[in-house]
Amino acid sequence: MEISNAKQEINITPELQARIDELLSHYPADKKKSALLPVLHEVQDAHDNWLSVPLQDKVAEILEIKPIEVYEVVTFYTMYNQRPIGNYMFEFCRTSCCCLRGAEDLMEYTCEKLGIKEGETTPDGKFTVVGVECLGACGYAPMLQIGDYYKEHLTKEKIDQLIEECKAGQVNLH
Ligand code: FES
Repeated sequence: MEISNAKQEINITPELQARIDELLSHYPADKKKSALLPVLHEVQDAHDNWLSVPLQDKVAEILEIKPIEVYEVVTFYTMYNQRPIGNYMFEFCRTSCCCLRGAEDLMEYTCEKLGIKEGETTPDGKFTVVGVECLGACGYAPMLQIGDYYKEHLTKEKIDQLIEECKAGQVNLH
């Protein structure tokens, strides 16, 4: 996912700071970097599910590490978004098992239905579609992740239904 220059308001609320402090309490005071991954998740969740460069810099400041140490993690893992994404991000697994069971076709079908290309977000800001590596649910292929949940044994009909449920606000993300 490419880096975005979109503006993002940085807001480390007392509640967010408390969650960060709780995570940091699991590690020695001089090893704050150990909490980087969970802290990034918390900060991303609290900022519309993406991490701008200034926000990554803020995380570096909080953890007392260099910004590059945050960038190299954020750019490595697909679960960290470097640009604004839709309310509903369909993350299609496209590794071997899912691929063999038609994941590429389903992702293409979804993109066509939403009028976007892979990696793009619909103009109304509702949907983003991306392909990701194995999500560890190979026995349920083809599958996708949306928020904290997996949707498994996908078919075009299930995709249709999922899109409609998202539009109706009936899909929980957490
Ligand atoms: S190959 Fe798709 S979940 Fe593992």
